Amino acid sequence: MTDLVRWTKEQDIAVITIDNPPVNALSPGVPEGIVAALEQIQNDGSVKAAVLVGAGKTFIAGADIREFVKLTSGQQQGDIGILPHLLKIEDSAKPVIVAIHGNALGGGLEVAQACHYRVAAADAQLGQPEVNLGIIPGAGGTQRLPRLVGIERAIEMCTTGKPVKAIEAAQFGLIDRVIEADLLTGAVAFARQVAGKPIRKTRERNDKLGSADSNAPVFAAARESARQKYRGMICQLAAIDAIEAATKLSFEQGCTEEARLFYRCLYSDQSKAQIHVFFAEREVSKIPDIPKDTAVMPVHSVAIVGAGTMGGGIAMVCANAGLPVVVKDTDPAALDRGIATIEKNYQMSVKRGRFTQEQVDERMRRIRTAVDYDDFANVDMVIEAVFETMPLKKQVFAELDRVCKRGAILASNTSTLNIDEIAATTSRPEAVIGLHFFSPANVMRLLEIVRGRRTAKEVIATCMQLARRLGKVGVLVGNCRGFVGNRMFLPYIREAQFLVEEGAAPEAVDRALVDWGMAMGPLAVGDLGGLDVAYRIRKEYRHLEKPGARQPFLEDRLVEKGRLGQKTGAGWYRYDAERRASSDPEIPAMVEGWVRESGIRQRPIAAEEIVEREIYSLVNEGARILEEGYALRAGDIDTIYVNGYGFPAYRGGPMWYADTVGVKQVYERVCEFHQRHGVLWEPARLLKELAESGGTFAHFQRVAAQASD
Ligand code: 3HC
Ligand code: NAI
Repeated sequence: MTDLVRWTKEQDIAVITIDNPPVNALSPGVPEGIVAALEQIQNDGSVKAAVLVGAGKTFIAGADIREFVKLTSGQQQGDIGILPHLLKIEDSAKPVIVAIHGNALGGGLEVAQACHYRVAAADAQLGQPEVNLGIIPGAGGTQRLPRLVGIERAIEMCTTGKPVKAIEAAQFGLIDRVIEADLLTGAVAFARQVAGKPIRKTRERNDKLGSADSNAPVFAAARESARQKYRGMICQLAAIDAIEAATKLSFEQGCTEEARLFYRCLYSDQSKAQIHVFFAEREVSKIPDIPKDTAVMPVHSVAIVGAGTMGGGIAMVCANAGLPVVVKDTDPAALDRGIATIEKNYQMSVKRGRFTQEQVDERMRRIRTAVDYDDFANVDMVIEAVFETMPLKKQVFAELDRVCKRGAILASNTSTLNIDEIAATTSRPEAVIGLHFFSPANVMRLLEIVRGRRTAKEVIATCMQLARRLGKVGVLVGNCRGFVGNRMFLPYIREAQFLVEEGAAPEAVDRALVDWGMAMGPLAVGDLGGLDVAYRIRKEYRHLEKPGARQPFLEDRLVEKGRLGQKTGAGWYRYDAERRASSDPEIPAMVEGWVRESGIRQRPIAAEEIVEREIYSLVNEGARILEEGYALRAGDIDTIYVNGYGFPAYRGGPMWYADTVGVKQVYERVCEFHQRHGVLWEPARLLKELAESGGTFAHFQRVAAQASD
C-alpha cells in the first residue's frame, strides 16, 4: 500500500479508500496501492469481498494528466503503466465492488470496469473523456467497455467523451446497481450479497461484442460520422479502431493495439495542444495579485438593463444558475419581445431534450421584467446590455449609481467601449467591471472579465467565481479597445477582406480556414453577426488607424448596397428563409468591379497562404496584447480563442499554435507580409524578441507568471 490508498474493515468486507486530492487521479502510487491492498485482503481470512471507494468529492477523475506531459516533454521515460495493475484487480480471488460517487472518468472508469461489480450514487457521472485531451482510453477501456455495454454505446462514449449519469448507465449494464441512500452502506451490503458467488471477469465477457457481419456497418457509420463531426481530428478514429480491435482480437492482443493507438495519439501535436487547453483553462483562475482567499461579495440576485439579444441571453444564463433576475428595458413592447425570444430559446432546449418543461417553467419564474429602476435598490449585481453607444452607457451608469445599493457590482457587457470612461460617470468606479458575454450568451462558454483601472479586487474575485457558477470560463483581460478577443479578431477579419481583394474567392477563404479547423470561416462569421457591426466600428475608429495603413473596402461596399449578412438575406453569401447559405453568383462580378476601380492586381492565392495570413494576424496581435499586459498569459489568449471564437482545441489556440510551428518561422513570415502588405503587418516586439532569443509563448507565459508572483 501507499499513503494514497488505505484499507479498513467493515466486519467481513474490506473498504479500500483512494485518497489523492483533489480528484483522486491515478498518480503513481494509486494503482500500486489498490493492488497492494488487495494482496493483503486475499490473505485475510476474515474478509470476503472488497469495496473500492474514493475519498473526498469524487471517485477517480482519470489518469494523472500531468504525468502525460512529463512523458511527451521527455522529462520522464516509460509508459503510463496502469493496465497491468487493472489485470491484477480483475484477477482478485475475492470480489471487488467499486462504489462510485462524483465522477468516474477516463482511467477512473477503466478501474471500475476491471472490478467485478459497479455500484454508484444516483448523481454519479461516468465517462471516457479522453478525446477531450486528444487521446483514447489507454488502460483497457476500449476493450472492456464494449464487453460491458456493447460496441455502439462504447463508440458513443469514447468518441463524444460525454459522461453518462449513473441511472442511465445502469440501464445499459455499465452499473449493476444505483444506490439512493448512503453509498458506502449500500455498497457493503451489496458486497455481502455477492461474496462467495463465482467471479465474472469483464475481460472474459464476450457476449456483447457482436459478430463481424453485424458490426461492419456500425463501424463504417461511426467512422463516417466521426470524419464529419470531428473534422481533422485523429483520436476519435483511433478510438473506433481500438474498439474494433476488441471485436476481432483476443483481449490481450486488443490491449496491445489499444496501447499502440493510445501512444500514437498521446505523442501527436493534437493531444499536446488539447492537454495545453485543459491546463490553460484551469490556469485562468489564477490571478497573481488576487489570491484564492480574496473575499468575495454575495451575489444572490441580478438585474439586467436591456432585453435585447444579449440581455435576454444573459437573463437565461442567470436563471439557469438559479439566480433571480429582473430585466429592465425602456418600454413594455421591448420587454415583451425580449421575453418572447427567451421563451422561444427555452422551447428549443426542451425540443432538444436539454431541459424538461418543468425546468423551463421554473427558470421562467425566476425572470421578472421592469420598465423602471424600482427593483434595483436591492440587487447584488447589475449587468448592463443596452445599445453600444458611450453616451447611453454613461447615462445608464449614472442612473445605476443613483439607484443601486452600496456593495452592488455594476457590470457592462460592452464589446468595445472603455470601461474606465463608463466607470468615471459613477461615484464608485471600484464597483464597475466589464462582463463581456459572447453571443448567444446562453450557449457560448467564454466570458471576458474586463478589469478597469480602479476595479476592486473583491469585485474581480466575485466575477471570476460567478463565471464558474454560470458555467462559463471567465478570463480576466485588460481594458483596451476590443479587449482581447475582438481586438485580435479585427485584423483577422480585415485580412480575410484583403485576401478577397487580392483574388481569393470568399468561399476559398472560408473553406481554407474551415479545413484547417476553424468552426466557421471569417466571412461567414461576418454575415452571421451582421456586416454593419464591423462597418460602424471601422467608421468610428478610423482616426485611430496607423498612418498609411491599408483600408479594406469590400465590406463597406456590401453594407452600402444593403447586404448586411444573414439578417438581410445577403452578405458575402446568399441566405434562404432558413438562413442556409449558398454562394452568391453576383459576388464575383461585384468584387471584380470594385477591385478594378482600386487598381489592385488579382492573383491566385493558395489555401496555405490564406491560413498563414489569417492565423498569423491573430498571433501578431496576440503577441502585442501580451507585451502590453492586457492578457496575463499566452494560455489565457488560447482559452479565449478556443471557447469564444471556434478555434480548434486540437491546435491549442493561436499562441500555442505559433509555438508548434516555431516562433521564428512565424516571425519570418510576418516580416515577409510586412514587406509585401505594409504597416499593418509590423511584427509585434514580443514576437521579434522570442524569435531572436529562441523563446516560446508558453515560456514567456511562465516567466511572466513567475515575475508577478
Ligand atoms: N489529472 C491531473 N490533474 C487533474 C485531473 C487529472 N485527471 N483532473 C483534474 N485535475 C486537477 C485540475 O488541473 C485542477 O488543478 P488545479 O486546482 O491545480 O488547477 C484540480 O484538479 C481541480 O480540477 P477542476 O478545476 O477541473 O475541478 P472541477 O471540480 O471543476 O472538475 C473534474 C472536476 C470534472 C474531474 C475535471 O477536473 C475534469 O474533467 N478532469 C479531467 C477528467 C479527464 O479528462 N479524465 C481523463 C484523463 S485521461 C485518462 O484517464 C487516460 C486513461 O485512459 C489512461
Ligand atoms: P440589442 O439591440 O439587441 O438590445 C439592446 C436593448 O437595450 C434593446 O432592447 C433596447 O430597447 C434596450 N435599451 C436601450 N436603451 C435602454 C435603456 N436606457 N434602458 C433599458 N434598456 C435600454 O443589442 P445587443 O446585441 O443585445 O447588444 C447589447 C450590448 O451587448 C452592446 O453593448 C453590445 O456591444 C454588447 N454585445 C453584443 C454582442 C452581440 O453579438 N450582439 C456580443 C457581445 C456584446
